[in-house]
Amino acid sequence: MKVVTVVSAKGGVGKTTIAANLASVLATRGRRVIALDLDPQNALRLHFGIPLDTIDGISRATLGGDPWQSVMFDGVDGVTVLPYGAVVEDDRRRFEAHVDRDPQWLAQSLEGLALSASDIVIVDTPPGSSVYTRTALCAANFALNVVLADAASYAAIPQMERMIEAYAAPRANFAGVGYVVNQVDQSRQLTKDVLKVLRNMLGNKMFSGVIHADEGVSEALACDTTLIHYDSLSQAAADLRACGDWLMSAVDAMPASSRNVA
Ligand SMILES: Nc1ncnc2c1ncn2[C@@H]1O[C@H](COP(=O)(O)OP(=O)(O)O)[C@@H](O)[C@H]1O
Ligand SMILES: [Mg+2]
Repeated sequence: MKVVTVVSAKGGVGKTTIAANLASVLATRGRRVIALDLDPQNALRLHFGIPLDTIDGISRATLGGDPWQSVMFDGVDGVTVLPYGAVVEDDRRRFEAHVDRDPQWLAQSLEGLALSASDIVIVDTPPGSSVYTRTALCAANFALNVVLADAASYAAIPQMERMIEAYAAPRANFAGVGYVVNQVDQSRQLTKDVLKVLRNMLGNKMFSGVIHADEGVSEALACDTTLIHYDSLSQAAADLRACGDWLMSAVDAMPASSRNVA
């Protein structure tokens, strides 16, 4: 099992979109992929055709002491989805306190699923610093930082680097961080300039392509599916496939490890 944690310092950059579509790409390449939602917005499932009124997920299962197998859904493109679940405010706080007390909660829960070495878990997180991002980084073999080609994303990079430094980097089975630039509009001069700066700063940690801005992305979500499924011939779908292949080579280059806990 390899765990890829998708993070970003800022919200609305496309973390959930990228997590869902990369899960889709890897699954269509024949890998077993588990897409796990650690964001109380519970939005990852929406890309996979899981009915809107479904309330089950890992938050409820954890609080109720139920096995995660009972909240695994078969999503589009063959991805197995573990939604966050819908919880009332009190339960959300209890769940967060539980995760806060035990940062290894995710790593240990994933170990309990006894996945095989080639299986890939893609974890979606809320923006910035939270108990969710901490436990997801504590379980990560690879962190994927989604950024926009704008000044705010650029300025926020050190904040996420500090979290990765604190929670993931000290572990021998953490292979490193990769960057992907989303929602790129090449017709804007500022975008081109910021891309240049990002490439200089991040070097080969950055996916060499970009994910273009594409209205198909929001149309796909409106149809409860991934862009890969909805419009496989679009530019952004081609970008996501290239990014998925880059991610898969990074993941496959890591030494296999049976245990994520330091
Ligand atoms: N490549 C893209 N092209 C166009 N719209 C995008 C793209 N990526 C994300 N979006 C849109 O941006 C918004 C935020 O995306 P989301 O994945 O929810 O971000 P996050 O999880 O970082 O908050 C959504 O409306 C989504 O449809
Ligand atoms: Mg999100």
